[in-house]
Amino acid sequence: MRAFRSLLVLAAVPAALAFKSQDFKTCSQSGFCRRGRALSARASESPSWRSPYSVDASSIALSSDQASFIAAVKSSIYPDVKFSLDVRIHDDGVVRVRMDEVDGLRKHYDEAASWALLDEPKVSQQVQWKVGKDGVSAVYGAKKDVEVKVAFEPLKVTLLRNGKEQVVLNNRGLLHMEHFRTKESVAKGKEGIAVPEEGLDIDDDAQVVLGAHPRTAWFEGEQEDSWWEETFNSFTDPKPRGPESLSVDIDFPNHGHVYGIPQHATRLDLPTTTGENAHYSDPYRLYNADVFEYLADSTTSLYGSIPFMHAHSADSTVAIFNAVGSDTFIDIGHPTAKSSTSHWISETGILDVFIFPGPTPADVFAQYTRLTGTPALPAHWALGYHQCRWNYVSSDDVRTVQKRFDEEDIPVDVFWLDIEYSEEHKYFIWDRKHFPDPVDMIKDVEAIGRHMVVIVDPHLKRTNDYPVYKQATELGILVKKGDGTTDYEGWCWSGSSAWVDFFNPGSWDWWKSLFKTESQGEQWSWVDSTVDTGIWNDMNEPSIFNGPEISMPRENIHYGGWEHRDLHNINGMLFHNLTSQAAMARTDPPKRPFVLTRSFYAGSQRFGAMWTGDNLGTWEHMAVGVKMVLANNIAGFSFAGSDVGGFFGNPEPEMLVRWYGVGIFSPFFRAHAHIDTKRREPFLLDEPYKGIVRDMLRLRYAMLPVWYTAFREASVTGLPVVRPHFVVFPQDENGFSLDDQFFVGGSGLLVKPVTRKGATEETVYLPAEDQVYYDYFNDYAYRSTSSKGKEITVSAELHQIPLFIRGGSIIPTRERPRRSSPLMKRDPFTLRVALSSDGSARGELYLDDGETFSHQQGQFVWREFAAEKPTKKSKGVRISSRDLAAQKPAEAVDHVALTTYDSSNAFAKDIADVRVEKIVVLGLPAKPSSVTIESGKELRWTYTPGVASSDKKGGTASVLVIRDPKLAITGDWSILVQA
Ligand SMILES: *[C@@H]1O[C@H](CO)[C@@H](O)[C@H](O)[C@H]1NC(C)=O
Repeated sequence: MRAFRSLLVLAAVPAALAFKSQDFKTCSQSGFCRRGRALSARASESPSWRSPYSVDASSIALSSDQASFIAAVKSSIYPDVKFSLDVRIHDDGVVRVRMDEVDGLRKHYDEAASWALLDEPKVSQQVQWKVGKDGVSAVYGAKKDVEVKVAFEPLKVTLLRNGKEQVVLNNRGLLHMEHFRTKESVAKGKEGIAVPEEGLDIDDDAQVVLGAHPRTAWFEGEQEDSWWEETFNSFTDPKPRGPESLSVDIDFPNHGHVYGIPQHATRLDLPTTTGENAHYSDPYRLYNADVFEYLADSTTSLYGSIPFMHAHSADSTVAIFNAVGSDTFIDIGHPTAKSSTSHWISETGILDVFIFPGPTPADVFAQYTRLTGTPALPAHWALGYHQCRWNYVSSDDVRTVQKRFDEEDIPVDVFWLDIEYSEEHKYFIWDRKHFPDPVDMIKDVEAIGRHMVVIVDPHLKRTNDYPVYKQATELGILVKKGDGTTDYEGWCWSGSSAWVDFFNPGSWDWWKSLFKTESQGEQWSWVDSTVDTGIWNDMNEPSIFNGPEISMPRENIHYGGWEHRDLHNINGMLFHNLTSQAAMARTDPPKRPFVLTRSFYAGSQRFGAMWTGDNLGTWEHMAVGVKMVLANNIAGFSFAGSDVGGFFGNPEPEMLVRWYGVGIFSPFFRAHAHIDTKRREPFLLDEPYKGIVRDMLRLRYAMLPVWYTAFREASVTGLPVVRPHFVVFPQDENGFSLDDQFFVGGSGLLVKPVTRKGATEETVYLPAEDQVYYDYFNDYAYRSTSSKGKEITVSAELHQIPLFIRGGSIIPTRERPRRSSPLMKRDPFTLRVALSSDGSARGELYLDDGETFSHQQGQFVWREFAAEKPTKKSKGVRISSRDLAAQKPAEAVDHVALTTYDSSNAFAKDIADVRVEKIVVLGLPAKPSSVTIESGKELRWTYTPGVASSDKKGGTASVLVIRDPKLAITGDWSILVQA
């Protein structure tokens, strides 16, 4: 978190600290971005523009199995500079294109992919490259419908499907990898740019016109724009390595929509930044930053960066991942309604682009998460409600807040402690005056299975009485200044601080040991915590109050001699990774860790949850938070949420209630508030607000089985936990820009949280399919048609959330109100069977112990519920439950060892007495004559006939309620409803 007022308390904070967007660079304030955009402008102005990069055909070297090749690349403007190209196709059809400078003055940063990727992917043995006169190509895929072409001159890489261009790299000739050069060689004219006769003092003004060499000027421009130094606000970046930026255009000629590249506060269907009608003037930026009071509609960078972009059309989805860890700007255009362009401009790094062939969104998710990992399956409790505030100020405060929740019967699973628990912001060390009994306090919270989450930030107070700092100094693992030897010092909450270099392997085991809860003698450990304490990693962009753009100087040095600028966007992920490993290392065998991060990169989904940072308590922020969570979900990182209530400000009751309506449909659900705000825990609300929020929280808890099942699916298939329309209905054009309503996993639940002040109604779009959508609360059945979708208007008073069950779905819930989710472990289930227009339905339920990794040894229950007509003409239905894991023995999945699965595993046995207590069937065409268990026993049931609306286009569905059928949730059974 960031706070102006509280900062004033800190001594020695520079007076120039202004928390405004002026703190952050726009493209025009950033040398390499200006150069990249200028290159693009010259290209579009010149009809004869042609990329100077070409492949030397004589250099092609196929690997012995012909599955990959390398080749030499040259640029006509710098004939002496050498590049190498490496193109390979993975087992699953993903294409990787790498290009780097060879024998340069230095090495470009080439490690971004190694941090993001799970493993080095296997190269396909099925693919055979063919070398032709003008290029190299390969045809592959089960139907041999995919082709990759690498053209020699100019260099261009194209992915085609059925002969149609899908992704084209260097289509517009904007590829440029600035080679390393020295000031001296440039001044002497050895690098293409000649010095004018009278000479020139380059140090004086980097912007000066140099009388450029005609060979390079058309391409690189006539100016050395910020090659050697750059000043922004009061900060000068010395840029000791000179220009080394990377520009590449990646076009999607047959896709009219692009999504992804979080984190930005904008629409899901990314608006344009180039072209005549550009929606934004500045490109999307990826540079992890602590942006104070960020705008709710902007392309500015925020706390995390995932350089992964989907391109979508009604007949194809493809995607690209640009593995770069440095400051990156991305321009997006739509030259026509059916095509998209993107231009990526990065400060440093090699070209390392992965092209995902799709062709469906589900394929893209599988391809991307096979590469960077699926989201970790969270502990079950982590899907409950999290109550946070900066700050619960003492042990007594924590206990009182917990007591108030219980008195008001409001469910909650987690209480959080922000930075003020610690003595002088020395994390791990408790402020004993206010928290005299930390372990007892945590144990009080844990008494009914609740958890406590405590913050541990990356800035270490520089004082030798802080063992964590002292040890880090002794180990020599702190980030260094530009000189490469002196420990870097900056300002943060703890005053003068230092930062551990998590790129240094020497820090890894040490950091993991800090979280141990038993004493380790000389080695410091966190005995004042419990093995179940969750951790919150904030400020890990890193946020540095007196640094450039509130972060670390780019010339700082990390392990291996890399500059901070090379790996800035990856930095926060490593801290998250190591903290999550540390949390696991507390017990043997490990438990599932819970670690929340603010900063993230591609791959962060493997380590825990994220939130959208310091949002404002405004309706705009509430609305954009929904879009940001969706964007994160389609970028592989599902466990996402926004602070309920807004971090800054005092939301009025109406806003707070609506925000809970958003929160209960977020994968990660936490309320949080700034230190200057009024207390706003739900028990403080007056009626009717309090009762509405209680009901909303109970709905979240009732639906935990749905959420947990969705998380399991995400952890196996990579499909997101919340899914926008284009993911679920990839061919329904009307849904491609929808980002204020979405589906929860594969459950068939469609929700549109209300984010407008004073709303009493909402319009909801029902997709183009011949289907029924049932209002979750009143069973009204809306019909959608296959030719076009349908907009409906529904009541959305303060206590209402537009929520629908798609016909054909079966929703498992647990409807007994409890104070925390662990108390629900043995609660019975309700099944809502929402019959489709053809009278069938299916659904899934996944359960395991929710806290260990025993599910990876087959300790889980995975059921499929189905409803079918017993015979074609029947008006009845047969509802059955079967073991889904046993049906899919061959499904090769990473996290669930189905080969070792045994339906009578110990976990299944343990919950053998958990029942189905109610089955609700929506949309039966006629009153049943009997409802029996397949063996013949008649069950208790009631039936309410449906009521058609006057226009016959909908009406309230019929409802059959079967009470207490005495069936086990783990058992195989079937019920016959005859009509
Ligand atoms: C991060 O996490 C992965 C596991 O996903 C692990 O293999 C890797 O070594 C970790 N460490 C770092 C420093 O990234």
